[in-house]
Amino acid sequence: MDSGWHDGWQATRTRLEDYFDRTAFDAWAALTSDAPVSKIRATVRAGRDAMRATLLDWLPADLSGKRLLDAGCGTGALAVEAARRGAEVVAIDVSPQLISIACERAPRDVHGRVQFLSGDMLDPRLGRFDHIVSMDVLIHYHSDQIAAAIANLAARTGASIAFTYAPGTPLLRTARAVGQFFPRADRAPGIIPVGRGELHAGVGKLAGVRLGREARVARGFYISQAQEVLVG
Ligand SMILES: C[S@@+](CC[C@H](N)C(=O)[O-])C[C@H]1O[C@@H](n2cnc3c(N)ncnc32)[C@H](O)[C@@H]1O
Repeated sequence: MDSGWHDGWQATRTRLEDYFDRTAFDAWAALTSDAPVSKIRATVRAGRDAMRATLLDWLPADLSGKRLLDAGCGTGALAVEAARRGAEVVAIDVSPQLISIACERAPRDVHGRVQFLSGDMLDPRLGRFDHIVSMDVLIHYHSDQIAAAIANLAARTGASIAFTYAPGTPLLRTARAVGQFFPRADRAPGIIPVGRGELHAGVGKLAGVRLGREARVARGFYISQAQEVLVG
């Protein structure tokens, strides 16, 4: 990756760390728990549950012997489900506080099968994976950053990458997107809508990858688009 692109990625990542580690930490911890939430956030929670189920559905039912990266794992729900299906999971998030919660919440039956780490999901020291899943993480990055991130991840993926982005329809550009109702701060990261055509042009031209399945989940105030990328 060229250094100009990497500088932009690092700047966004630093803002996201600050936001999820501090400003939005309590709200995010509550949303990802069973605690009661407002009706609006309940629609976001329901949409996120449906999206997680979709992404898990795209993976082989039996993940025994497979190495999986949950890139931007937050509090770790997807990582836990993948581990329950037999995967050896590396779950990484730039927010150390969210990683602490993920460790606390990890049920005993997956202990030893999920490694929770704080850091950048693009860190090459994480090694190679069969599958990479990244739910509602790249929604905060520009389309050129998304394409560069997928190129980076594809270089060390054996089978598939599944990620979500914020679909950029005119209606959605005006209002509804995951995170809209979370605390704001001067430097809060936005949700960046990306058109499907723009996304496909950027990711589809990458060497050694093919575009796979797509799915949109829209529930009340949650809307997110999943894209599968097949490698090799
Ligand atoms: C909207 S949350 C989604 C968390 C989780 N995937 C889920 O669906 O519950 C976005 C997460 O991406 C993390 N994140 C953003 N950029 C990252 C990066 N470059 N490396 C690792 N984590 C990142 C944030 O800290 C945050 O926890």
